[in-house]
Amino acid sequence: MDFSDKTVAILGSGRVGSALAILLSRNRFREVRAYDRNLEKQQTLREWPGVTIVLSSTLSEAVTGADLIFLAVQDRYISELARELAAVSGEAGWQGKFVAHLSGSLTSAVLQPLASAGALTCSLHPLQSLAGVAGAVEGLAGSCFSFEGDSGALAPAEFVVSVLDGHLVPLKADDKVLYHAAAVVASNFFIVLEDMAITLMSGIGVDRDTARRMLLPLIRGSFENLERVDPVEALTGPIVRGDDRTVAAHLETLADKFPDYLKAYRLLAGLNIELAGQKSGVGYADFPSLSGNS
Ligand SMILES: NC(=O)c1ccc[n+]([C@@H]2O[C@H](COP(=O)([O-])OP(=O)(O)OC[C@H]3O[C@@H](n4cnc5c(N)ncnc54)[C@H](OP(=O)(O)O)[C@@H]3O)[C@@H](O)[C@H]2O)c1
Repeated sequence: MDFSDKTVAILGSGRVGSALAILLSRNRFREVRAYDRNLEKQQTLREWPGVTIVLSSTLSEAVTGADLIFLAVQDRYISELARELAAVSGEAGWQGKFVAHLSGSLTSAVLQPLASAGALTCSLHPLQSLAGVAGAVEGLAGSCFSFEGDSGALAPAEFVVSVLDGHLVPLKADDKVLYHAAAVVASNFFIVLEDMAITLMSGIGVDRDTARRMLLPLIRGSFENLERVDPVEALTGPIVRGDDRTVAAHLETLADKFPDYLKAYRLLAGLNIELAGQKSGVGYADFPSLSGNS
């Protein structure tokens, strides 16, 4: 189905809202509007080259007559904004309007006041880490978007995702927490792990920036392996080789220089053994050093 004759309103002009406004305005829609409670936040959109975005100065102005409405505000403000919107009557009320929020952890239930007013509500979450508007403009294109909500919202969501060059994945509301936990592990915990690696590397006397640059090609290599094959095949290193002497040396130096990391290392080594077992047959018995207390 084609929704290009529709008017889009994006509420919240932060990282994701601004990027969405830029990308959708480059494509086919009758009009793309942006609104933020802090009008200074619209400056980036005002200055962005080659796009036509209508900058609304009130919430009511943004949503009146809009067909597709995105709540691109922080998760903690979504339910409050949904209640506020339900009180904004607009020209034709909320009957049949598409309303989406972009949160990974919340379901569409948080939009209940709008659903009760007749809107087709959903959560449409870009599975991506978006640190700034420019990064988000690049990052959104090609990302996966999870969809959960009213079945009547699916066709407009599919159209928007196709305009963004993304891939839509339908989810059940009950699966959303586990889905979000997976996203946190893949993105946030990955950064936490790399921070741990940078800290350990800085223990050899290089500054953190140098350590980060030293590690980046290795990270990229692992990432590229994972693009080609599944984690079992991508796995390399001392544990998959059954090399307990190296693991024992790591534990010894960590105990000496970074004792706070010992617990994390042991935990990750355990997960590593379980994964490596599928590739080389190693097991816990091959790593006596990990059964000690160091
Ligand atoms: N960033 C990511 O990596 C990422 C990835 C996937 C999904 N998401 C989701 O995308 C949504 C937006 O996240 P974001 O990172 O773009 O947040 P953000 O950069 O903090 O931007 C949110 C904007 O909304 C404004 N706002 C808050 N309440 C408002 C209201 N009632 N009316 C109008 N504007 C309001 C905020 O203003 P104030 O600054 O005054 O509060 C801020 O300018 C969230 O649901 C988030 O979970 C984010």
